[in-house]
Amino acid sequence: MPLMGPREMFEAAYAGRYAVGAFNVNNMEIVQGIMRAASVEKSPVILQVSAGARKYAGQAYIMKLVEAALSEDPAVPVVVHLDHGPSFEMCRDCIDGGFTSVMIDGSHLSYEENVALTKEVVDYAHTKKVWVEAELGKLAGVEEHVHSVEHVYTDPEQAVDFVRRTGCDSLAVAIGTSHGAYKFKGDARLDFERLEAISDKLPGYPLVLHGASSVPQEFVSLCNKYGGQVGGAKGVPEDMLRKAAAMGVCKINVDTDIRLALTASIRQFMAEHPEHFDPRAYLTPAREAVKNMVAHKIRNVMGSSGKA
Ligand code: G3H
Ligand code: 13P
Ligand code: ZN
Repeated sequence: MPLMGPREMFEAAYAGRYAVGAFNVNNMEIVQGIMRAASVEKSPVILQVSAGARKYAGQAYIMKLVEAALSEDPAVPVVVHLDHGPSFEMCRDCIDGGFTSVMIDGSHLSYEENVALTKEVVDYAHTKKVWVEAELGKLAGVEEHVHSVEHVYTDPEQAVDFVRRTGCDSLAVAIGTSHGAYKFKGDARLDFERLEAISDKLPGYPLVLHGASSVPQEFVSLCNKYGGQVGGAKGVPEDMLRKAAAMGVCKINVDTDIRLALTASIRQFMAEHPEHFDPRAYLTPAREAVKNMVAHKIRNVMGSSGKA
């Protein structure tokens, strides 16, 4: 199956009250781990590439990895998506380079500037039949180019105006999630009333949840046991993500959990086998750890198993 855009995936997800997982990719082992999980689970999947991933691996390398993955698992429906595109130019380069979906992240701009930048990307992308995700509201935490100390939750009325004026195809909303491994100081809380209000005002419209890693404590413990320092890390409980998926959230973003799974496995291997220095020795179980984590998520959080 060739690369596809998200439209059919999201229509099916919206109707079936499940979500499609969007997993960040940075190298071959991560692409393989995710794709093997999607293949076993017979699930659609979104492979997303951040500006940082593009810089690290190079866009051409990532696209070749995705191409290889598609030929190995032709039955898996795959979207390649730019995550947190910082500028019109980067979105255009990705569109021209074969991405089937881009995100333009104007969440750090004023409302009017966000509208204008998003519309500029939409106008270009739609001439090439490429999907555009935008963001309204701010997630607390650090991203490559956006730093916000405080959450600014998405206003439901403004969301309607934003979608109407920009023509964006999906919208990332801020309801209390944040990027990274330290999402909540006390109990986890998401503003589901707000999510419901946004979803009610935009019936049938696909919403996106960023910062949706669950930070599994087994990986945190393994990292810490083998010399890591990720104490106090906390993510979004899985039942909250399932609830969001049933409320119009069609795309759920996961990066931190991949990093944790990979790093925990490598730390453990290094500690238990200090004599090894062949990268294949430690990257094989690390890739398997990514695959198992993603398979668990597809099955138990996204609900997209068997939807390929
Ligand atoms: O939203 C941010 C993603 O986790 C990507 O992170 O910019 O470090 O690649 P990155
Ligand atoms: P996490 O840091 O929770 O994995 O969020 C990833 C994300 O939103 C990528 O855009
Ligand atoms: Zn994000």
